[in-house]
Amino acid sequence: MAKVTQQPVITLEHIRIQFGKRTILEDVSLNVNEGEFIAVLGPNGAGKSTLLKLLLGMLKPQAGVVRVLGRPPRRGNDAIGYAPQHRNLEVDLALRARDVVGFGLDGNRWGPGLPSHKRNAIIDKALLEVDASAFADAPIGQLSGGEQQRLLIAQALLTNPRLLLLDEPLANLDISHEQEIVALVDKVCRSRNVAVMLVTHDINPLLPVVDRVLYMANGHTAIGTTNEVITSSTLTRLYGTPVEVIQALGRVFVVGAET
Ligand SMILES: Nc1ncnc2c1ncn2[C@@H]1O[C@H](COP(=O)(O)OP(=O)(O)OP(=O)(O)O)[C@@H](O)[C@H]1O
Ligand SMILES: [Mg+2]
Repeated sequence: MAKVTQQPVITLEHIRIQFGKRTILEDVSLNVNEGEFIAVLGPNGAGKSTLLKLLLGMLKPQAGVVRVLGRPPRRGNDAIGYAPQHRNLEVDLALRARDVVGFGLDGNRWGPGLPSHKRNAIIDKALLEVDASAFADAPIGQLSGGEQQRLLIAQALLTNPRLLLLDEPLANLDISHEQEIVALVDKVCRSRNVAVMLVTHDINPLLPVVDRVLYMANGHTAIGTTNEVITSSTLTRLYGTPVEVIQALGRVFVVGAET
């Protein structure tokens, strides 16, 4: 069957973002397609979180065109699920897991008016999808980092988004919990055909699942398959200093970057 041509979920054309005199992104152009799983990598301060905020309509570029699902970004867009890097789970550790998930309904148009049985049904479905039903009523202060992360993903899924933006969901997780979250995000991406931008500092847990990698450094970006982007030549060009990519035991190591 011929594949229907779809409009990209994300289109960036010649984007420039500056804070004062500092340029964070310079002439960035890229497309992300429906159902694509993209890992976003780059050193601290490269602009990874800033890029997500651009897509969320939280900041405007100094130059260029942004389209999300064919339209300019706007705040409170139900078509985007977002789990921020700096989250406020510590605000009230006595909140139950299901309440945290339910926050995903509060920021959008129809959430606050929902009857409670409908609201609960949506929350239960999301808890089930991220395999969190067992601790649905536990206070979040008692949950592990991996369990809390699953709740944040459930929260981001509540409005049935077409684009999922996850800012460092693997931070502070050990390898087995990293793998658990990666498997969950992969399942969500494939079963819902939702596009995913997942910010991470380590590509290794994502190697088996990502479609493409977006690497940001020095205001510039490289996008392509892992084999195209995570190479000594591409990263040396991007960083402007010698970078060596070493492959061993099915893992990749980037040496010389982030120093
Ligand atoms: N609102 C703002 N005003 C001024 N500077 C900002 C603002 N937001 C971000 N920056 C700066 O822009 C740069 C990119 O920030 P950003 O948070 O996007 O980096 P990042 O790639 O997500 O880094 P990390 O890996 O540490 O999370 C940083 O130097 C940051 O200090
Ligand atoms: Mg960040």
